[in-house]
Amino acid sequence: MSKDTITLTDSRSGKKYDFPILDATLGPSVVDISTFYKDTGLFTFDRGYTSTASCRSKITYIDGDKGQLMYRGYDISYLAKEKNFVEVCHLLTRKKLPNEKEYEKYNAELKQFSYIRENMKALFDAFPEKAHPMAILSAGVMALSTFYFEDLQCAQGKCDVEHYNRIATRIVAKIPSIAAYSYRHFMGLPIIYPDLKKGFVENFLFMLRALPYGYCDIKPIEVKALDAIFTLHADHEQNASTTTVRNVGSTNAHPYAAISAGICALWGSAHGGANEAVMRQLRMIGSVDNVEKYIEKAKAKDDPFRLMGFGHRVYKNFDPRAKVLKKICNELIDEIGINSELVEIAHKVEKIALKDEYFVKRGLYPNVDFYSGLILEALKIPIDMFAVMFVIGRTPGWIAQWMELKEQPDVKIARPRQLYLGPKPIDI
Ligand code: CMC
Repeated sequence: MSKDTITLTDSRSGKKYDFPILDATLGPSVVDISTFYKDTGLFTFDRGYTSTASCRSKITYIDGDKGQLMYRGYDISYLAKEKNFVEVCHLLTRKKLPNEKEYEKYNAELKQFSYIRENMKALFDAFPEKAHPMAILSAGVMALSTFYFEDLQCAQGKCDVEHYNRIATRIVAKIPSIAAYSYRHFMGLPIIYPDLKKGFVENFLFMLRALPYGYCDIKPIEVKALDAIFTLHADHEQNASTTTVRNVGSTNAHPYAAISAGICALWGSAHGGANEAVMRQLRMIGSVDNVEKYIEKAKAKDDPFRLMGFGHRVYKNFDPRAKVLKKICNELIDEIGINSELVEIAHKVEKIALKDEYFVKRGLYPNVDFYSGLILEALKIPIDMFAVMFVIGRTPGWIAQWMELKEQPDVKIARPRQLYLGPKPIDI
């Protein structure tokens, strides 16, 4: 640890305060302000936590300027090209890429855990038709906690590594099944059970698409594209939903509560709802002739309209996930085809925005959701399922972050303070 400090001077009192600088393995060091309030009597203020490191983590590294994203030291373009989503789940939750034997064992465990208890099916029946699959998914994950009582004690950090691994595998394996059940309910279709002969991603597409006892056509390029989407979404450092998972975990709530809360946080259009918003926006634009008009709306200061799928809090040059998905998106569209007007609109939006001074100056590039929306459309996944797909991908990351939190002996409950601007005491 560095012995360096940063000195702050209070211009009102002239007092000076030293705060230690903690070095990171990569990326910015941090100023440890844990004693800031005790020392100065002041709070710090950081809207949206743009300059705040909320935890110590060894899982994911992002360099927003370089457009770099790594899971446990592996670059995501390598993982998306050379590894599959199951290997990435192992990497995130068990801290290493699996060798052949570990892979076989882990894959078998995922299959074994992919079934949902029969009596849980009644939960799906209770929801109205057309209930949003994200609502069913978050409720379904919460409902898992009613079946696995023994997992609840792990919330206090009282379990051994095997038990944590079992929880992680159970949640990673069951979320696609709950997601598929939510979709089948939404569509008014009978539930399809997992097919143990199929791989993780192929089985998920099978549970979405198959007719009972029926034929189900799944092309290898479709499995490849969806596997890449899951892999590229698997973790993303301390984003809004992961921070939610950690915050809920910090209260000693059980893992199903933490993941269910993460699902809710991800639902918003500024986060996991963005790929859905991209497709709705492309449809709203409606024709290539309207693109310029909407680009102007996005640029207008007094117009709240934003170009969905553009910009990122962290990536200010390019989103490395978007780079990988753009290539796969083009391969998929070439092979299976998609409503060409939507693709044409998307290409025109992308072409204009990449050159336009407004977007270039602000570092607004197509993000992962711009291309994942197009891929999911090509896979004939209904728009209401888009955020659900993001959840399936992000689950191993959330679980890995929750397990890391439980390993750390000095975690404090997340309890930020505020800049109070309300009324002073009122005389009564
Ligand atoms: N279209 C038009 N203008 C934009 C956009 C956009 N998509 N995004 C940001 N801006 C402008 C914004 O108006 C502001 O302009 P000015 O400096 O003149 O006031 C400037 O760019 C900075 O914007 P910001 O809101 O301060 O940036 P942020 O880092 O807080 O927001 C964002 C990041 C992703 C919420 C935002 O870019 C956005 O709303 N994008 C569209 C939604 C979207 O695609 N979200 C998915 C993000 S990727 C998924 C994930 O990793 O979770």
